[in-house]
Amino acid sequence: MLELGAGLGLPSLAAALRGADVLATDWADEAVELLRDNAQRNGITVRAARVRWDEPARLLAAAPWDLVLLADVLYEQRNADRLLELLPQLGGEALIAEPGRPFAKRFLAHWDVEEVADRVYRLR
Ligand SMILES: C[S@@+](CC[C@H](N)C(=O)[O-])C[C@H]1O[C@@H](n2cnc3c(N)ncnc32)[C@H](O)[C@@H]1O
Repeated sequence: MLELGAGLGLPSLAAALRGADVLATDWADEAVELLRDNAQRNGITVRAARVRWDEPARLLAAAPWDLVLLADVLYEQRNADRLLELLPQLGGEALIAEPGRPFAKRFLAHWDVEEVADRVYRLR
């Protein structure tokens, strides 16, 4: 599975602990380094890479992904726009944790949405 905008990458770490083969990505070097360090310190196997949503070649080469995870990534309109373009190319299903950012409503309107947990939505 793939996480986009992972930051500290807690969903990736949790999924890896449950046996998933995970690539966690973010465009911030510091986030990727911290995630690798955190995983290593806790004995968790997670791949982490610096990937921007507007330069997704590495992600597209590995598509289709079984599952794409996102958490709190819709805080800017440009994020919503880029993800609307990128996500359909990644395949599989997507789960997004969305705490109520202003750009979420318009983003979610593009999908068949099922709330699978509190503020966690499955996108198809
Ligand atoms: C609000 S943080 C959420 C981090 C984490 N998912 C969480 O829930 O704690 C948004 C994350 O998206 C990343 N991000 C924003 N725009 C991005 C882009 N264009 N490409 C890749 N990562 C991006 C940021 O670096 C940041 O780590």
